[in-house]
Amino acid sequence: MSDKKLWSGRFNEPTDAFVEAFTASVDFDQRMYRQDIAGSIAHATMLARQGIIEEDERDAIIDGLQQIRDDIEHGRFEWSVALEDVHMNIEAALTERIGDAGKKLHTGRSRNDQVATDIRLYLRDELQEILDELHRLEYALLDLAEAEAETILPGFTHLQTAQPITFGHHLMAWFEMLDRDAERLSDCRSRMNRMPLGAAALAGTTFPIDREYTAELLGFDAPCANSLDAVSDRDFAIEFGSAAALLMMHLSRFSEEIIIWSSAQFGFVTLSDSFCTGSSIMPQKKNPDVPELIRGKSGRIYGHLFSLLTLMKAQPLAYNKDNQEDKEPLFDIIDNLKGSLKVFADMIPAITPRREAMRAAAMQGFATATDLADYLVRKGLPFRDAHEVVGKAVALGVQQERDLSEMSLDELRGFSPLIDADVFDILTLEGSVAARDHIGGTAPHQVRLAIGRARQRLP
Ligand code: ARG
Repeated sequence: MSDKKLWSGRFNEPTDAFVEAFTASVDFDQRMYRQDIAGSIAHATMLARQGIIEEDERDAIIDGLQQIRDDIEHGRFEWSVALEDVHMNIEAALTERIGDAGKKLHTGRSRNDQVATDIRLYLRDELQEILDELHRLEYALLDLAEAEAETILPGFTHLQTAQPITFGHHLMAWFEMLDRDAERLSDCRSRMNRMPLGAAALAGTTFPIDREYTAELLGFDAPCANSLDAVSDRDFAIEFGSAAALLMMHLSRFSEEIIIWSSAQFGFVTLSDSFCTGSSIMPQKKNPDVPELIRGKSGRIYGHLFSLLTLMKAQPLAYNKDNQEDKEPLFDIIDNLKGSLKVFADMIPAITPRREAMRAAAMQGFATATDLADYLVRKGLPFRDAHEVVGKAVALGVQQERDLSEMSLDELRGFSPLIDADVFDILTLEGSVAARDHIGGTAPHQVRLAIGRARQRLP
């Protein structure tokens, strides 16, 4: 294939060799070849329909582009750095194959609207795969939450035992967060799905194009309303990056919990061997590398979000070459987000809860102290006084290393005469969780209802 620059008409000297490599993007933007070809096929179809090119020219273009796509997919296409990017590589190959008709493809178009279209198409395709993985993770969470609706563990604030909760309820907290992430990702699709083609370099084109038709062919909701905006802004990528950063933040927190839970000190869960690795020096080790790596990758995604924001900052309208720098961060976000979601969705069924250990932990740390205070309030004591009474009982328990449920009725009555034998119903772990029986509460019954509603919400 000839490496002659498609824009060389006004140039007298060749490009400096290093500048050529420095400014090229083909090494990383070739991954958009399918979208580039789809965009070109739609553009040529529209050009012919509008009588801007002949029908046989359109047919030759489409046929040539399909062959090129086939060659790329079979590793038969030779990418050339001298041809700078995916767009000019494909266009040059087309002209070489079909002759003059290939030279007409770029009528009424610029690489500026072309690249902006390609990225949107690419991100749109990837977004669907990301959402599919995210939904798979959500379903895995629902299954685990359902199986563990009655399992009791200590709930924490400040990582100190707070109140007993059900494991199903805890898992459903992660479900809710991830479901908001899914909502955010789907939402950014609607603003992304506008078509830049027709904006040409920046001002539109003098040819009688039909942008609505091209948009329809490519599955866009509509053409971008302003040509300058269409070629210049990458806010859709930043918006996706923000949603991705939030999602990774959630995954990093969830990872952190899995890491803590699987430690010998907590022992709340075991993570199957297939998601852990060993140590080259310490024979006993089984490390939760997968959640650790996901926790680490969150930092990398935040970094890319900042690259994109900074790349866009203070750029004058319209297209600037700066924008070529949008691709590598964007692609890396996509790859790592997709990988993290895939491995997370696979990992959830590999978690085995250790119910006895969770229960034993919930028995420590006076997890039902609030229940006792609430009990006294129901017997007529103002909450602040009840708090004080229970605080004294806890102080004795700490001193004697005994849970409230292990004290006798007489001992408890020593703190308040309002306490009767029925107090033991609420001092049990089961009584404590069952009593929080309202929407959003931890009672097993409510957890099951929440799971039912969640299943209806999911696609
Ligand atoms: N490779 C370029 C990019 O990624 C394509 C657009 C180039 N346009 C231009 N006028 N130099 O942004």
